[in-house]
Amino acid sequence: MSQTPTAESRLALTDEEASLYSQIDKQNLPKHIAIIMDGNGRWAKKRDFSRIKGHKSAIPAVRQTVEGCVDLGIEHLTLYAFSTENWKRPPQETGTLMALLRQFLRLELKAVRKHSLRVKVIGAIHELSPGIQKDLKTVFDGCSKNTGMCFNIAINYSGRMDILHGFKTAMAAGVDPESLTEQSFKPFLSTAGQPDPDLVIRTSGEMRISNFLLWQIAYSEIWVTPTLWPDFRRGDLYRAVLDYQARHRRFGGI
Ligand code: IPE
Ligand code: IPE
Ligand code: MG
Repeated sequence: MSQTPTAESRLALTDEEASLYSQIDKQNLPKHIAIIMDGNGRWAKKRDFSRIKGHKSAIPAVRQTVEGCVDLGIEHLTLYAFSTENWKRPPQETGTLMALLRQFLRLELKAVRKHSLRVKVIGAIHELSPGIQKDLKTVFDGCSKNTGMCFNIAINYSGRMDILHGFKTAMAAGVDPESLTEQSFKPFLSTAGQPDPDLVIRTSGEMRISNFLLWQIAYSEIWVTPTLWPDFRRGDLYRAVLDYQARHRRFGGI
């Protein structure tokens, strides 16, 4: 059997990660995993580093998560990178976060090609700087024919705004409000055409949603870990999936 690049990367797993991987039921995977990547600042504080260094140190966690999801066969991954509320932070921090996003997008073009990722950005992109918008366009143009995992990055995202924008778009398209249903509204959301997240992961222990995908996570399973985002590795992803697989999803039934 020829070795796929992802099988190759699996060779680098620690014994513990390999053991967790082998316990995952590959027939019962979450179709869509959404992650609130939190704790970069606290990770830095613990080490007496600047918050900015904390954000910079989070890149390996993102890489391992993307690789890990591709390798497992997850169809949709959404990473929450920047909320509309994050603009409340000092301009030096928001500026660095935007610069890091640009750097990340450029560096990850190789991974996008390697895994044929379908990259989509959700959030108010039109409010971002022309430089980031240009980089995003380069990524979109480069993946229009891709067929792999759908990789959503939430930038300048607000769950409330997603719903409000969807409703305004539906009205502008001439949809009769009386005939609008939960199902017919879904195509007007930023995640149109994608299944709702089955599993939401939040790092750094906070028990809150912070304006993430409010409509879409109505019945998601939530897994919170005290691990701070820069320390998140494949083993944590596998633990989240294993925990998800042990849940009994009732969707209001019995
Ligand atoms: C997550 O880490 C990154 C973003 C929200 C952009 P934080 O920067 O929120 O880190 P903490 O929560 O202060 O530790
Ligand atoms: C949530 O983290 C947003 C992102 C991960 C992008 P925050 O750090 O902004 O959330 P709060 O402020 O603790 O709720
Ligand atoms: Mg935070």
